[in-house]
Amino acid sequence: MLSKSIETALNKQIRIEAESSQVYLAMAVWAEVKGLEGISNFMYDQSDEEREHMLKLVKFVNERGGHAHISELNAPNVTFNSFQEMFKKLLEHEVFVSESINELVHISLQEKDYATHNFLQWYVAEQIEEEAVARTILDKINMIGDDKGGLYLFDRDIQQLTVSSAAQTPGAGI
Ligand code: FEO
Repeated sequence: MLSKSIETALNKQIRIEAESSQVYLAMAVWAEVKGLEGISNFMYDQSDEEREHMLKLVKFVNERGGHAHISELNAPNVTFNSFQEMFKKLLEHEVFVSESINELVHISLQEKDYATHNFLQWYVAEQIEEEAVARTILDKINMIGDDKGGLYLFDRDIQQLTVSSAAQTPGAGI
């Protein structure tokens, strides 16, 4: 059975994961409108993954005798000045999510809720992977800068990056 404070904290995370899905969906749409299909597909996939992160939390809260709260969401950024800016925001967002997961882990230990603590370890590992992928992408994009040819090649290569990182760590992504 979840304590009230754990239930509240998990519900806050449900909202964050749902908002993450919207944040990446908006990035996917922007990239698609800009004609970069590879980046767009990558972001659509990330958006789907965030929805899975949210659903995993929803199921856990309900299975542990709580009530998952489906709330209204903050509107995401829908336009960007550049792909560099978009990927910078992506990394910043993942760092924010990691901090939120860390806080949840902290609360679960304070409450001596070891079942929730154990459940959260999946998210801790996932965040390490997601931050690493986001940093790799941002490094590459920073090198490309405003070079259109470089961006075109990156748009093709980002699919490989997804496939190869997924091959190394099943289910991993942003
Ligand atoms: Fe669910 Fe990308 O954090």
